Amino acid sequence: MMIRILGIESSCDETAAAIVADGREILSNVVASQVEVHRKYGGVVPEIASREHLRHIVPVVREALDRAGMCLADVDAVGVTRGPGLVGALLVGLTYGKVLAQALGKPLVAVNHLEGHVHAVLLEAHRAGAQPEFPAVCLIVSGGHTQLYGVAAAPAAEDPAALQLSYQRLGGTRDDAAGEAYDKVAKLLALGYPGGPIIDQLAAWSPTGAAIAGYGASPKFAPPKLRGNPYDFSFSGIKTAVLYYVRDHAEFQPEIAARKAALQEGKRSAAEIAALCSPATLDLISQFQSAVVRDLAARTLAAARETGVRSVLVSGGVAANSELRRVFDASAQSGGLPVFFPSRALSTDNAAMIAAAAYSRLMSGERAGEDLDAEAVLPLI
Ligand code: KG4
Ligand code: ZN
Repeated sequence: MMIRILGIESSCDETAAAIVADGREILSNVVASQVEVHRKYGGVVPEIASREHLRHIVPVVREALDRAGMCLADVDAVGVTRGPGLVGALLVGLTYGKVLAQALGKPLVAVNHLEGHVHAVLLEAHRAGAQPEFPAVCLIVSGGHTQLYGVAAAPAAEDPAALQLSYQRLGGTRDDAAGEAYDKVAKLLALGYPGGPIIDQLAAWSPTGAAIAGYGASPKFAPPKLRGNPYDFSFSGIKTAVLYYVRDHAEFQPEIAARKAALQEGKRSAAEIAALCSPATLDLISQFQSAVVRDLAARTLAAARETGVRSVLVSGGVAANSELRRVFDASAQSGGLPVFFPSRALSTDNAAMIAAAAYSRLMSGERAGEDLDAEAVLPLI
């Protein structure tokens, strides 16, 4: 008998529900993205996010059940994201999950969103018939987070095939998350929203090919010099450097105005935006990306080497980035530690990763109480 968990995720701007069997088999994975709603503001507006979650939560859960060929009575447990995230957004999924579990008389499991991102890697590895060896380091890199953890694993008491994970925080961003830097740079250059996917595509158009060289030089942007913890990150400096560079070069202004007009007309494809980018802009974009990716990889791989782990996991929205994948894969191929990513669909926020994390917690005997509440800030332990 498989244990089928309904996972619910609503920490930011994605309303998501999924059914995962035994923490490994994805039976359905439904994501209602709010990107279109937040686009005109150039970022997630918390109040609007909560309202959108309210509109979507019931149909999204229903669709997850339908696609898995199940009804509510077939659900064995409910896993919900407890935090970190936007409290108003979290409360929608958490309250709905709590009420469902109570009404069905099934266990409720609270999941840390960041742990969900770690499980996204394991779900994908399982699909590929592989399994990372532990201990590992895990870089979680998204629009809201850039954190580096040491991860240890032990078999869960009630199902030894499920892993009970424990974490040691190694470092994290001192200011902006990497995805946030992508989004802000895209906004100031008028490239569209969200910034990550469009910058990823435009970097490949760069005439200097910095993106293709991958780990190569990025002469405009030196990596930040940080005192103290070598595994900390900082991305606000590079964002400001791009801002100053654009401000000091007046020739960027007409093309920025042209792209703003194009975006307003709904022209958002990489080809349409690239046609409105000068070689200097494309070069700037690819150098920005190279600098961010190089810094993420360098600190993560240094942490992996120095802590003596057996594999490297990379997850979160920015883990969908092509250059980031190339740089980590190149390191693994040249004799470095094996590197594991989720598929692109599992990299960004989803509920399959929440259901998978909930299964491990359930098999370790965890249950959430009736007093479960949403937490904007929630350390991963
Ligand atoms: O994990 P996610 O869906 O939500 C958060 O928990 O933040 O990540 C969204 C972030 C956004 O900042 C977006 O610009 C970035 O991930 N992103 C990317 C790519 N796809 C999404 N960044 C770089 N390259 C990409 N291909
Ligand atoms: Zn996330």
